[in-house]
Amino acid sequence: MTDIIQTGGKMKKIGFIAFVGLVVLAMAALALSDSSNSEGSGVVKLPSPRTDGGISVEKALSERRSIRSFKNESLTIDEVSQLLWAAQGVTDDKGHRTSPSAMASYPLEVYLLAGNVTGLSAGAYHYSPQGHNLTAISLGNKIGELFNSSTGGRKDWRVGSPAVFIVTGVFDRVNKIPGQDLSRFVYVEAGTASENLLLEVVSLGLGATYTAGFDENKTREYLELADGEDPIAVIPVGRK
Ligand SMILES: Cc1cc2nc3c(=O)[nH]c(=O)nc-3n(C[C@H](O)[C@H](O)[C@H](O)COP(=O)(O)O)c2cc1C
Repeated sequence: MTDIIQTGGKMKKIGFIAFVGLVVLAMAALALSDSSNSEGSGVVKLPSPRTDGGISVEKALSERRSIRSFKNESLTIDEVSQLLWAAQGVTDDKGHRTSPSAMASYPLEVYLLAGNVTGLSAGAYHYSPQGHNLTAISLGNKIGELFNSSTGGRKDWRVGSPAVFIVTGVFDRVNKIPGQDLSRFVYVEAGTASENLLLEVVSLGLGATYTAGFDENKTREYLELADGEDPIAVIPVGRK
């Protein structure tokens, strides 16, 4: 009888140890799965974009308007993912994108300043169309400082934006033909990518404005841009 009680006690102990072991294993697995989408590694995997649904192109075109006043509410990482994809997402296995590109040279880069995005730490990020992910450049909300400096200390309507998308151009990628300056192609592409993003904004029921007035030096600093890559379009997005 004592043996049975002792064996039962041992079994309980073994069961408890096994349970604790399982919990530890589950936590380790969770930590590992988190690290695949971790900002610790600097790379944030984005939710897959929708390629269907939303509203018609005609409705988006007729409803698009520059919106300069946002609610004090966050965007979601799904919305941010969808907007980045609309601007420059890869849409086939050859690497073609949502926007056309001169000679398929893809001279654009897209960046995100996240201020208030659910599921994403505030910071400056670079978008990779191939991986559909973001790489952190630096953490911390840069939006207020960026727009305060562009208006000489006056309050700029863009200061409280939850997210700002920035399209840059790398001019060497199109200027490969000796004697020909094809830089204009980069500006054309920045326009088409930005319009894609603006139409997706309408489809998501959000608000945005294409802005070209910004402090270039601060923008270069926050995005750590090298010579030869220039910021072209700055698009604050928020909930209207
Ligand atoms: C190249 C370009 C630069 C612009 N720059 C700014 C800007 O710096 N600030 C701003 O508030 N709006 C800017 N806008 C938005 C225009 O003011 C806006 O598109 C125009 O008033 C027409 O209004 P809508 O977009 O609602 O149709 C810009 C638009 C374009 C195309």
